[in-house]
Amino acid sequence: MDTDIRTKAKQHLACALDLPNLKEAQALARRIQHEVGYLKVGLELFTSAGSEAVSLVRSLGLKCFLDLKLHDIPATMARAAAAAADLGVDLLTVHASAGPEALSQVLKATAHSNMRTLAVTVLTSSDEKDLKAIGVLKPPLEQVRDLACMAVEQGVSGFVCAAPELHVLREVAGPNAFLVTPGIRPSLADSFDQKRVADPAWAVEHGSNLLVVGRPIRDAKDPARSASQIVASIATVLNRAESDHP
Ligand code: C5P
Repeated sequence: MDTDIRTKAKQHLACALDLPNLKEAQALARRIQHEVGYLKVGLELFTSAGSEAVSLVRSLGLKCFLDLKLHDIPATMARAAAAAADLGVDLLTVHASAGPEALSQVLKATAHSNMRTLAVTVLTSSDEKDLKAIGVLKPPLEQVRDLACMAVEQGVSGFVCAAPELHVLREVAGPNAFLVTPGIRPSLADSFDQKRVADPAWAVEHGSNLLVVGRPIRDAKDPARSASQIVASIATVLNRAESDHP
């Protein structure tokens, strides 16, 4: 496989450092650092290690995806987002359901930085029954579309979405939007609690800009090998796209 294509393919893969402390995160990060473009720091690691987790990612020369899924009053979200931008974070998640004022204030507070704000619409672990339980009576896809339209109106240009929703998000957010897809399962892997899953090649073919993979890499016997196999399937799709449109 062409090394250029592999280098590009790595920029489409984020591994979630879903681990309880900095020591374990360091160990996984070092094993996979040459196979991914991004490392994702989520609630568990950030709660335990704080900004040192972001520094770890940056010290390896990788991009940092800070997945805090902020949802609070607009002023608090804006201040937290500005603090993340100051740490040198590349991608930060917020809940679109925090509302238009919160999204607008977050974008204003971080406009000076290179950090991109990603809005989460409906979590990939939720299905229609889960939405009903919290009072959302629309089907998940309709809820995704409505939240995305509202976020786009505020100027949001990045989204986290399940693979089967990629077409809706692309339609709503346009060709330049940055679409990030968790719930990725290399074929035959356990889907755990993710209810809307897809394999890596399918997600990239359907317009995902960044795949988020947690347990299939973290829990693999050989995490670097597992990441490398995902990169290879992404590279195959990119290669095909380049031959179709040289
Ligand atoms: O282990 P798995 O591959 O399912 O990990 C998915 C990661 O993506 C987790 O860190 C989870 O918090 C995150 N995520 C998600 N669904 C979203 C947004 C983020 O599963 N909508």
